[in-house]
Amino acid sequence: MKKILITGATGNIGSEVIRYLGALTTDAEIIAGVRDIERASLKLDQLPNLTFRVFDMEDANSFKSGFQEIDILFLLRPPHISDVDKYFKPLLASAKTSGIQRIVFLSVQGAERSKVIPHNKIERLIRDFGFAYIMVRPSYFMQNLTTTLRPEILESRTITLPSANAKFNWIDVQNIGEAVAHFIQSFDQYINKSYEITGLENKGFPEVVDLMNDVLDIDLKFNSLNPISFYFKKKKEGISSGFALVMTLLHFLPRVQSEPNVSNTYQELTGKTPTSIKAFIEREKDKFFINR
Ligand SMILES: NC(=O)c1ccc[n+]([C@@H]2O[C@H](COP(=O)([O-])OP(=O)(O)OC[C@H]3O[C@@H](n4cnc5c(N)ncnc54)[C@H](OP(=O)(O)O)[C@@H]3O)[C@@H](O)[C@H]2O)c1
Repeated sequence: MKKILITGATGNIGSEVIRYLGALTTDAEIIAGVRDIERASLKLDQLPNLTFRVFDMEDANSFKSGFQEIDILFLLRPPHISDVDKYFKPLLASAKTSGIQRIVFLSVQGAERSKVIPHNKIERLIRDFGFAYIMVRPSYFMQNLTTTLRPEILESRTITLPSANAKFNWIDVQNIGEAVAHFIQSFDQYINKSYEITGLENKGFPEVVDLMNDVLDIDLKFNSLNPISFYFKKKKEGISSGFALVMTLLHFLPRVQSEPNVSNTYQELTGKTPTSIKAFIEREKDKFFINR
């Protein structure tokens, strides 16, 4: 039986990959590679037939046992890990020595255009090590509204970002998980290619905030800052320099770039239409209210 190791299993993407892969495949063992098995098994307890292995990207001692007899590795970069040479080089070297040949990597839309972002460096390493690969490059997660941006939405009915009217392409993490499950299931069909996974809508924050106000009947405001003020605001809130910088660049760069590409990869893989922003807000509406 084929063994598939899923990293980032407790996070946004990894948990959806496991959920969709579990429904799609019957001839594979799905293994969640996690830092803390007890905590992860509580979080993922509704996902049947899942097994667990200790796997910590910041602890090279966990690589050998984590990678044992793995056929396909689903690799994700946890947001706080940006030193690729320190963490991903040894990780990929160990995957190679352990006999892993195939990797599906969760990258980001536009990774090929920017040599400085970690995803670009990881993509290059995966190729240089000679793995068979599928690079998955999703656009901007709708779930940012229900995770990183949620505390401010709940506390002060505001979204503060350095993005002015820049357009983002909005994708539902569930759609990404489903697409990745198809890539893993039919790896050889998509081998050694890169795929953008996007939703159908390019919208700026002012438009999305208007939509949220309509759907949720609230009075949410959008506050656009310049990138320097935004960076120091995040630092003052106690966010690490690395993550504050990533948040600043992620939300500022679209102001100086062309509008994101809209791809039809999700439709081609699944035969379905990606989630609209309105449908996402309706589905997740309880998360925008305290005590619901
Ligand atoms: N947000 C966006 O709009 C966007 C768009 C495109 C691409 N991306 C990319 O998506 C990725 C983030 O995916 P996500 O949202 O699913 O992340 P997430 O929800 O923050 O989850 C991170 C996962 O990584 C695990 N993890 C953290 N440190 C680890 C370590 N040392 N060893 C092993 N596992 C570790 C966490 O496990 P624990 O339970 O142990 O903490 C968790 O399962 C990033 O690379 C980001 O750049 C994001």
